[in-house]
Amino acid sequence: MSIWKRVLPQPLSQPGHLPLRRMVQYIDHFMSQREMHRGIVGSPKVTIAQNFDNLLFPKDHPGRSKSDTYYCDSRTLLRTHATCHQNEMLSLKKAYWICDTYRRDEIDRTHYPIFHQMDAIYLINKPDEEVIAHMKAFLESFVSYMLKETLGQVEMRWVDAYFPFTYNSLELEIFYRDQWLELLGGGIIHQDIQKRHDIQPGWAFGIGLERLCMLLYNIQDIRLFWSRDDRFIKQFSGEVQLGDSVPKQMPFVPFSRMQPCYKDISFFVDDSGQENPIDAGRFDMNDVHDILRDYEDLEEVKVQDAFYHPKKQKWSLCLRLTFRAWDRTLENEQVMQLINDMKKQMVDQLGLEMR
Ligand code: PHE
Repeated sequence: MSIWKRVLPQPLSQPGHLPLRRMVQYIDHFMSQREMHRGIVGSPKVTIAQNFDNLLFPKDHPGRSKSDTYYCDSRTLLRTHATCHQNEMLSLKKAYWICDTYRRDEIDRTHYPIFHQMDAIYLINKPDEEVIAHMKAFLESFVSYMLKETLGQVEMRWVDAYFPFTYNSLELEIFYRDQWLELLGGGIIHQDIQKRHDIQPGWAFGIGLERLCMLLYNIQDIRLFWSRDDRFIKQFSGEVQLGDSVPKQMPFVPFSRMQPCYKDISFFVDDSGQENPIDAGRFDMNDVHDILRDYEDLEEVKVQDAFYHPKKQKWSLCLRLTFRAWDRTLENEQVMQLINDMKKQMVDQLGLEMR
């Protein structure tokens, strides 16, 4: 599976992750002023118990499915969220930790199968209302500290949410470019977890760091964090100045975009009897995404059309591929070569019948 090529000992040390490392310095500063300890986490390969069972995920929770999660074997997987380390951190009482996390996903500007999350816990022996009030104040001041100089006073709202491992769960949204954007989730640590570890009540929260960093620097494409292009990296060279809030950050200036080139590919999916070829059965669209992600100049993959072929009794899928390189215009011939190679991979690795 192609994800294995990408699992590195330290994804955060990749050249393109420079803006993220800067942001982490600001986060460390904020947290240290609140006497939060930074917890150290190990390998991304964790047990299913750590990632799901100990956090009270129901057996049929969609997050557990093979099309969303990278399983290593029958006992282990690549962690899908930083919360899998919460149990190890509880004895620290006030702690945060940052790690690389993995989810199978589509190919577009806002998704990449490796990303980073920060989680935190804050134990205070207080009634529920006060725990929640404390969490809200803490997280609102965190968001304001991070973004207010760059985005101006940020409008925020709390909305009800569900996580298996917290109650009174909430999500914090911010108003950004005419819409509400979900930024982080939190809640009171579930009583069963409190009891199992014999701890005081407290709150926990989690946030995706790439999304936050994209807001801070106006970065439009999450895949730029994997770039080795100087035109990206050079833009984050200024000094990190720690203070009461993160100073206004210079917005990232996207480099000139080349003309996109569109191509369609079609294939049969032998998944007879399924209502919908994408959702279920032996075929998994994310297997196709996993193969196609290896092609750097492929910007987006969209399912264009799906129909049931009555004679063949098979589904036919048509994908619309958008090709665009960051630094050069692609010739039709080059793109055709890529297409042929992709088709070969899809036949060899997934046994698909191309049209
Ligand atoms: N782990 C949750 C997620 O990935 C976020 C979260 C962490 C929510 C801790 C509540 C408490 O979305």
